[in-house]
Amino acid sequence: MKFPDTRLRRLRKSGVTRAMVRETSLTRDCLVMPLFVTHGKNIRNPVESLPGNYQLSVDQLVEYGKMLAGKGVRSVLLFGIPEQKDETGDVACDPDGIVQRAIRALKKEMPDLFVIADVCNCEYTLHGHCGTIVDGDVDNDSTVDTLVRQSLCLAEAGADMIAPSDMMDGRIGAIRQALERKGFHNMPLMSYSAKYSSAFYGPFREAAQSAPSFGDRATYQMDPANKKEALREVALDIDEGADIVMVKPALSYLDVISEVKNNFNIPVAAYNVSGEFAMVKAAARNGWIDEKRIVREILTSIRRAGADIIISYHTQEIISEL
Ligand code: PBG
Repeated sequence: MKFPDTRLRRLRKSGVTRAMVRETSLTRDCLVMPLFVTHGKNIRNPVESLPGNYQLSVDQLVEYGKMLAGKGVRSVLLFGIPEQKDETGDVACDPDGIVQRAIRALKKEMPDLFVIADVCNCEYTLHGHCGTIVDGDVDNDSTVDTLVRQSLCLAEAGADMIAPSDMMDGRIGAIRQALERKGFHNMPLMSYSAKYSSAFYGPFREAAQSAPSFGDRATYQMDPANKKEALREVALDIDEGADIVMVKPALSYLDVISEVKNNFNIPVAAYNVSGEFAMVKAAARNGWIDEKRIVREILTSIRRAGADIIISYHTQEIISEL
C-alpha cells in the first residue's frame, strides 16, 4: 500500500491509538535493582559515581529493601564488600559472609522480595581479579571450584537465584551439577553469558571496591568487537544448565541482545551497567538532558532489543511510575 492509502501518522494522532499499537512495554516485573552490601553497622555510604546508590550495612540494607519494596521493586541483585579479602576469594564461601547475612536478613523481613546473588570473586580477592591467579593470569579450573563453593553457600543462605558473573569456562555446568547434587533442583541460574571487557564498569568498581590491581579482565571477559562469539557463549551456557542468559553491558550491545533473543528460546537479561547510568546522571545534573524521558527511552530500547529482564540502577527511580 502506498501513500496516500497508507499514512502511518493516522495511528500516531491520538494517545489512545499510540498506546494500542505500542509494541514494547516496560513493567515492574522486568526490572531488577542492584544493591551493594558492606560490613559494619548503620552504614549508608553514598557512591559518588553512582548518584543515589549506597554501600549499605546489613541493617541499612533491610531498611532500604523495605523502601524499595514499598515502591514496587520485586527483585534485587546483591554484591558484597567483605571486611577481609584473600588470594582466592574463599572469604566469599563463609556461611556467615557478608552476602549470606544480607540474604538471610532480607528474606526474614521480606520473604516476597526476590533476592538474586551475584557470584564472582573480584569483590573478595586482594588483587581484584575474578579468580585465582596462577602465572600472572586467572586460572580457570581452580576458580571454577571456588565459584561452585560460593554458589552453594549462597543457595544455603536462601538466595532465590544465582547469577555467575565471572566468565570462567565451564562454570555454569559445574555449578548446576553441584546444585543438583545438594538438592537445589529448582535453583535458577542466570548466567552472565556474554559479558564484555568493558570500560562501562568503572563506577561499579568504585561501589564494589573490586578494580583489578594489575592488568585488566580481557583474558576472561569478551572482546567488545565480537558478536558471533557471544552466541557461542550463550549456546554453551544453555547446554550447561542456565535458565536465563545475560548480555552485559546493554546499550552498546543492543545488537547482541537482539541476536541472542532471535537465536535462542530462553529468557534474556540485559545489564544496564554503572557507566551507562553514570553518564545519564552526569548529563542530567548539568541540565543537558531530560532525565526522566531519557531513562524511559533507554529502558524501553533495551526491552525492544529483546531483553525480558533488565538489571538497572534506574529501577528505584522509575519503578513507581510503571
Ligand atoms: C563482577 C561484576 C562486575 C559488574 C557486575 N558484576 C564488574 C566487573 O566485571 O568488573 C559490573 C556492573 C556494573 O558496571 O554496573 N565481576
